[in-house]
Order: sequence, then structure tokens, then C-alpha cells
Amino acid sequence: MRIILLGAPGAGKGTQAAFICDMFSIPKISTGDMLRQAVADQTPLGKKMASIMNAGQLVPDDMVVAMVIQRLGQSDCRNGYLLDGFPRTLSQAEALLAANIPIDCVLEIRVPDEDIIQRLSGRWIHPASGRVYHVVFNPPLQLGKDDITGEPLIQREDDREETVLKRLKVYHQQTQPLIEWYQQLEKTAGPGVPKFRKVLGLGTVQEIRDSIALALQA
Ligand code: AP5
Repeated sequence: MRIILLGAPGAGKGTQAAFICDMFSIPKISTGDMLRQAVADQTPLGKKMASIMNAGQLVPDDMVVAMVIQRLGQSDCRNGYLLDGFPRTLSQAEALLAANIPIDCVLEIRVPDEDIIQRLSGRWIHPASGRVYHVVFNPPLQLGKDDITGEPLIQREDDREETVLKRLKVYHQQTQPLIEWYQQLEKTAGPGVPKFRKVLGLGTVQEIRDSIALALQA
């Protein structure tokens, strides 16, 4: 299965990606995680990207496209993959299509803006694995520690309220148009055209997981 996960910042893409990847035994390819790793490793790319990400802006298309295409060439992607946070602009979606990267399903998780800020202000992550928690809605077994490794959890630099508002604005301007674009693409019904599915991202993590399982089987 080859899946694109679309949705606003904080819609629950990372949370649900873990379940979907287990369901299909496919790797999660999160451009956000890859870029944060480059920042943490202080690579030349990471040094350039840190200020853009912390300002809630998107990094340049050509860099992200090259990074994803290179990653998709690795052997663990042979039986499928889940793209989390990519594509995020029309230009990225067109580059994916032009590179003949097969996609079976584009899945949108839709959450109203008013729920996003509350979600992101309580988010804690385990950077090494990408596991995501929330102090109230999805707490770790032990406060501040990852359930599996016991390592410390951290908060993201870009989860400050003013940055979240910027990220939401960027999402509505640059990423949301992809929903219409993929819906139109589905109507062309040509060979290799991905189906488009949408789930409402409100309710418990388990309820959304169940809706996603149904949507992907449909
Ligand atoms: P990225 O890391 O992709 O961030 P994002 O898309 O903004 O999404 P988030 O990771 O913030 O949210 P999510 O939907 O995964 O939600 P989560 O599951 O964590 O990108 C970061 C930055 O990198 C971008 O701003 C950009 O600069 C750059 N970048 C990345 N990709 C790029 C690209 N393709 N092009 C250019 N630039 C790019 O959930 C959020 C919280 O809610 C958690 O605490 C979770 O526990 C909680 N939660 C989850 N589900 C529920 C629920 N049902 N009820 C209540 N709480 C819930």
C-alpha cells in the first residue's frame, strides 16, 4: 500500500501514521521528522532549515522533493510506504506525479482549526522514534518518558502558539488546495490514479484509527 496522509498541523497525522504503518507493514516517511533530524544533526541542510521551520514556513520544494525521492529508493519502500507531510504544495504533488512515484490512496484527516492549538500546546514527542503523546488526550504511561524506551520526551520549537497560527495559515494557503487537486485527479480515473478518502479527525485516537481502517479498505 502506498499512501499520502494529508491534514493540517496537529490533525493527528503522526499519531495515526504509526497505526497505518503497522497495519500494512510499511515505513513512515515523514518529511518533518527527516528535516528535524537534519537540524538536530546540524547538517548543512539542517542549519539552513532550522530558522524556516521555527518560523512556521515551508522549506523550499526542490530540497524536500529530492530528499523524498532519494528516501523512496531505499529497499524498505519496495512493498509500500506512507508519506506523512509530503506533498505539501502543488509543486511537490506535481513533482511526485512527474517522477512516476506510485500512490494508491490519498487520505485526508480533517480537524477544525480551533481544536489544533489545544492539541499542539499539549504535545510531547519522542524524537528518535517519532512517537507522539498529548498530556491529556494521549498521555505517556510515565509523565515525560517514552512508553517503549523510557527516554525523555521533548516539546517541538514550532509548537508555540504564534508559530502554530502561522503554520495553520500556511496550511490553508499552500497545502489545502491539494485536496481539491487530488479529488479532481481521482475523477480522471486513469491508470495509477490514487483514490481520495477523507476522515474526520475528531474523537478518540482509537475512533479515528477505526475510521481510517474502514476508509482504507473501502
Ligand atoms: P511536520 O512535522 O510535518 O508538521 P505538521 O504537518 O505541521 O504536522 P504535525 O506533526 O504538527 O501534526 P500531526 O498532524 O502529525 O499531529 P500529531 O499526530 O502530532 O512539519 C514541520 C515543519 O517541517 C513544517 O512547518 C515545515 O517547515 C517543514 N516541512 C515538513 N514537510 C515539508 C514539506 N513537504 N515541504 C516543505 N516544508 C516541510 O498530533 C498532534 C497532537 O494531538 C499530539 O499531541 C497528539 O497526541 C494529539 N492528538 C492526536 N490525535 C488526537 C485526538 N484524536 N484527540 C485529541 N488529541 C489528539
